[in-house]
Amino acid sequence: MTMKQALINCPSLANSSLLELEEDIRQFWNSGVRWFHIDIMDGHYVPNLCYPVRLVADLKAKYPQAIADVHMMVTDPAAYIEPLRAAGADYVSFHADSTHFVIRSLRAIREVGMKAGIVLNPSQQVDVIRPYLDWVDLVVLMTVEPGFAGQKFMVESLPRLEELSKLREETGKEFLISIDGGINYPNVQPCVRRGANLFVTGVYTVYRQPDGIPAACQRFEQEMRKGLVE
Ligand code: DX5
Ligand code: ZN
Repeated sequence: MTMKQALINCPSLANSSLLELEEDIRQFWNSGVRWFHIDIMDGHYVPNLCYPVRLVADLKAKYPQAIADVHMMVTDPAAYIEPLRAAGADYVSFHADSTHFVIRSLRAIREVGMKAGIVLNPSQQVDVIRPYLDWVDLVVLMTVEPGFAGQKFMVESLPRLEELSKLREETGKEFLISIDGGINYPNVQPCVRRGANLFVTGVYTVYRQPDGIPAACQRFEQEMRKGLVE
C-alpha cells in the first residue's frame, strides 16, 4: 500500500465465554480496541453454531463507535444482509463459495451502506477473488479452516498472503486485508511484512493471557508495529 499500512487488532468474540462476553468487550474497549470480529455460523456452511445477528445490535447499542466486523459462515449470506444492516454492522464478509451470486451480494451489502468483504478458505486459490475486486472493501484470508476458534495457524497461509498483497498492488485496489484464525506471535511480524491490515486475534494473543486483556492488547500492538518495514 502506498499510504501508511493500517494495522488493526480485531479480537474475535467467538473466544469469549458467553458468561464473560460483556466483561471481555468492556476490557477490550478500555484497552483501545475499536474493531470487534463477530463470527456468525449457521451450522450448515460450517459444522458449528456461533453468534446471532443480535450480538451486533447489542454491541452497537452499548458502544456506538465500535466497528462490527461480521464474518458470515452461512449458506445463504444474502438473507443476512438486511438484518445485519438493521443491527448496525459495519463490515460484512461472506465466503466466496457460499453463494452463486458473489457480485450481487457484495453490491447488496454496499447498497445499504455497509462495507463488503469476501472470505477465502485455505482450499481456494487466491485468484478466485479477482473478478470481485471492484466491489470489495475487505478480503479475509482464512488462516485456519473456518468453523472453530482456537485452531493452529496454517503456515501455508504466508505465501498466500503475499500473493494477495501482490494482487492488491498490481490492481491498485484499496481493500483491506484481514487474516483470520490462529494468529500467534511467531506469525504477526511475517504477516505485517506481507501486507496484512486486520489481525483477527484469539487465544494465542489477547485472550486467556496471564497478564490480562489490557497488557495483552498493548503487547500485540507493539508486535504489529515491529513488523513494519523501515
Ligand atoms: C474461525 C473463526 C475465527 C476464530 C478466530 O472460524 O472465523 O474468527 O474465532 O481465530 P482464533 O480464535 O482461532 O485465533
Ligand atoms: Zn472469523
